[in-house]
Amino acid sequence: MAQIAVIGAGYVGLTTAACFSSLGHDVVCADIDEERIARLQRGEIPIVEAGLEELVREGLAEGRLRFVVGAATAAPSAEFAYLCVPTPQAEDGSADLSYIEAAAREIGPHLPSEAVVVNKSTVPVGSTRVVERVLGRDDVTVVSNPEFLREGSAVHDFLNPDRIVIGSDDQSAAVRVASLYIGVTAPIIVTDPASAETIKYASNAFLATKISFVNAIAAVCEAVGADVKDVVLGMGYDKRIGHEFLKPGPGWGGSCFPKDSRALVHIADQAGYSFDLLRGVITVNEDQFKRVVAKIRTMAGGSLEGVPVAVWGLTFKARTDDTRESPALRIISLMREEGAQVRAYDPAVRWTIDGIEPAADPYSVCDGAEVLAVLTEWDEFRWLDFDKVAGLMRAPRVVDARNLLDKPALERRGFAYVGIGR
Ligand SMILES: NC(=O)c1ccc[n+]([C@@H]2O[C@H](COP(=O)([O-])OP(=O)(O)OC[C@H]3O[C@@H](n4cnc5c(N)ncnc54)[C@H](O)[C@@H]3O)[C@@H](O)[C@H]2O)c1
Repeated sequence: MAQIAVIGAGYVGLTTAACFSSLGHDVVCADIDEERIARLQRGEIPIVEAGLEELVREGLAEGRLRFVVGAATAAPSAEFAYLCVPTPQAEDGSADLSYIEAAAREIGPHLPSEAVVVNKSTVPVGSTRVVERVLGRDDVTVVSNPEFLREGSAVHDFLNPDRIVIGSDDQSAAVRVASLYIGVTAPIIVTDPASAETIKYASNAFLATKISFVNAIAAVCEAVGADVKDVVLGMGYDKRIGHEFLKPGPGWGGSCFPKDSRALVHIADQAGYSFDLLRGVITVNEDQFKRVVAKIRTMAGGSLEGVPVAVWGLTFKARTDDTRESPALRIISLMREEGAQVRAYDPAVRWTIDGIEPAADPYSVCDGAEVLAVLTEWDEFRWLDFDKVAGLMRAPRVVDARNLLDKPALERRGFAYVGIGR
């Protein structure tokens, strides 16, 4: 079993640390956030992620998982050091590598000889070389091993991946990294670092494209009087297309797709290729936020000025507490620019975000509201008491940006209902 340091205790780092420890490795997970580390040392999980708490507690109890402040503290015993720090979007759309460089600088002097540093953060082509340069160590190898987990099912995805991608020019380092996934059954693709890094960006860009495509098809359905639910059902049975990621909604968001799609446009530009298809995908997504606002405005009678709007859902998708680049927040911001008075509820968000103080329950936000907007696909929204909702609202009107609710059932209760593409 290996000694692994994981640098960064966020969605990816914490999942990586807990899962590697559950596979039997000795893991030290480091973060710069002292409060986060103190909580983790007590077995408290700072994020909502199914199955993570059990794995962390098990790792702590069995002594295979430790949490420390500072990357340098985790480095001295590490045979492998996984970099799981943020790679946010820089001003020009490129990926900001400053966190990666800082982490590499911190661990460089402390790593033992023959250690392997692994980029798990999503990093542009050439980053393996950047880390090598910053480490300044001839006796340490840098390998790319991008992560494909989805928030909300991160533990499941880490332990049951569709594939494991390893990018290295050093075959033996690649084999050493592959051997860490002992007990995980998945195809392993060993390639060069540039290809591994490109696989990650291309995968995210393709998924974003699928969503923008289906949102565009939903717009066509609205225009021609088709029902997008039946259209995607009919498309999805074609094995070349598949059902996954063919759900129209309020647009894509989250901590990855927005920055990664822009970063890929930037990478391509820098390399002399103008990725107009992906530019279009981004534009369709920006338009989708506005299309949802337009539906809410129309429901409100043509203007949002002074209109009380109830919002259900703030996270970028269900089963996570992550609100980074959430379509819900974009749509709320656009509505507020038009003068709407927005009150919001989300089952996982209890803190003030973008000036919105979430309500404690879904009903109170409906009191006196003229429109209810469903912006995140939390399953529990489907089972609420809609007679009560109708009684509370000034007028029972729903814009269901996730096509989540039962349209005929709501219409029977007197709701005006608008979804996406139907
Ligand atoms: N979130 C996802 O679903 C997902 C999926 C695949 C890949 N990724 C990629 O993984 C990377 C991390 O994403 P995330 O969502 O886990 O980010 P995150 O913001 O949740 O976590 C990053 C953590 O790194 C810590 N950190 C920053 N600098 C540090 C340093 N020098 N030493 C120690 N800790 C440090 C931060 O305090 C934070 O806790 C990004 O490149 C992202 O694109 C994310």
